[in-house]
Amino acid sequence: ATAQNKIVVNTDLGKEKISRHIYGHFSEHLGRCIYGGYWVGEDSDIPNTNGIRNDVVDALREMGIPNLRWPGGCFADEYHWMDGIGPRDERPTMINTHWGGVTENNHFGTHEFLELCNQLDTEPVICGNLGSGTVQEMSQWVEYLNSGNISPMTDLRKSNGREEPWGVKYWGVGNENWGCGGNMTAEYYANEMKRYSTYTKNYGDNRLYRVACGPSGADYHWMETLMRDGAPGRSFQGISLHYYTVAHSWGDKGSATDFDENDYFLTMSKTLFMDELLRNHINIMDRYDPRNRVGLIVDEWGNWHNVEPGTNPGFLYQQNTLRDAMVASVNLDLFNNYCRRVKMANIAQTVNVLQAMILTKDDEIVKTPSYYVFKMYKVHYDATLLPTDVESEFYSHDGERIPAISTSASKSEDGTIHITISNIDPNEALDLTCELRGLENVSFERGEIITGEKVNSYNDFGEAEEVSSASFSDVKVNGNQLEVNLPAKSIVMLELR
Ligand code: AHR
Repeated sequence: ATAQNKIVVNTDLGKEKISRHIYGHFSEHLGRCIYGGYWVGEDSDIPNTNGIRNDVVDALREMGIPNLRWPGGCFADEYHWMDGIGPRDERPTMINTHWGGVTENNHFGTHEFLELCNQLDTEPVICGNLGSGTVQEMSQWVEYLNSGNISPMTDLRKSNGREEPWGVKYWGVGNENWGCGGNMTAEYYANEMKRYSTYTKNYGDNRLYRVACGPSGADYHWMETLMRDGAPGRSFQGISLHYYTVAHSWGDKGSATDFDENDYFLTMSKTLFMDELLRNHINIMDRYDPRNRVGLIVDEWGNWHNVEPGTNPGFLYQQNTLRDAMVASVNLDLFNNYCRRVKMANIAQTVNVLQAMILTKDDEIVKTPSYYVFKMYKVHYDATLLPTDVESEFYSHDGERIPAISTSASKSEDGTIHITISNIDPNEALDLTCELRGLENVSFERGEIITGEKVNSYNDFGEAEEVSSASFSDVKVNGNQLEVNLPAKSIVMLELR
């Protein structure tokens, strides 16, 4: 092995826990995410339980889904929750103005979403409407969900068939209120957010974890204003960050599958900007909240490509390749490494939209390369982060370069150590030394790898999977050192004791 690629895992320096909520998801009323993706209705020929497709639920449970954010997105700030309760055939319709101008029949509402969460065994994350709703409407939604007292909203919930409160904890106080959620200034939103938050109450033992709308990308002014004027810790317990990886421009983002090495390099270097964003936003948060009480919630992230040719441009349906898997692993490593502050993240958007875990076509489903990354990274759930020092070669392209290696490591409660490592370089395998500093000996228990023939390999309907996970054992152990051969464009997980 060359000395150039070395990861030192500091096994004795772990103190922060990696919240499992970093591995969260986001599903909006957008395109075929909710309708067709999860919800087919009770009368559908597609096997379902209470209207929700079984194949999607089974696949997501197998992958691991610690939380699910809903109903948007931009949709959240035009959603009126009372339209989505009561007998389905009596629910009013609305126009989904953001996403294709389609008619929303409101058949999937509060009860259906919480039934989905129940089937997925996942924690709901609900985003309220601050942009076009009222304080009363948001306040009553929380009461409807969480109150066990005798109250008008409790009675309404019971009359709709749900006796016990659900106890929803994670609550978004608006979405992208600097844009689709009302085009507000940071100063104006800070005041509105405090007003809305005041009337989202705690019921019983449930303590709401309110997520304020945070910045888009590098809008440091927004973060500064919210942390200074927004009453952090009282009005909100978490603040969001949205950053999408767009290879080219918003007007022409580039194809999801038909891309060359230049596009691949651009995608990877743009996704690595997340590192700088996290560092800078966390610095601001540290100044106003030195006790680290407020979480950074990256509740929208992932690759945003052009839609698949021939599909509705408002539906954001894109294929998913090994490049997407690489974007997932690199970002998840970053969230792990910043877990002192990053308490939740939600990749956009689970099924049939943007960087999805699952694609559906009628009664068929496809598990995407990103799906396999989330499944592999489960090993980090609630484990203690082990800080790593990395010396890495560069992946160079056309005179530009980025580090070839991304990694994070953790130790579970039973002492098992997991290291996830990506070799971003699409052309060169890397010899890597991994030192488990603080231990005398390690034993290699098992390994897994995700790779494919090309960076644009993907899984398609009716075809054998081109990208999935396989076992990996190209590891030699010598005391507390491992010599690992990392194939080009691969994502590897090592389990050690
Ligand atoms: O995920 C798609 C959209 O991206 C969301 O609705 C919005 O919040 C963001 O701009």
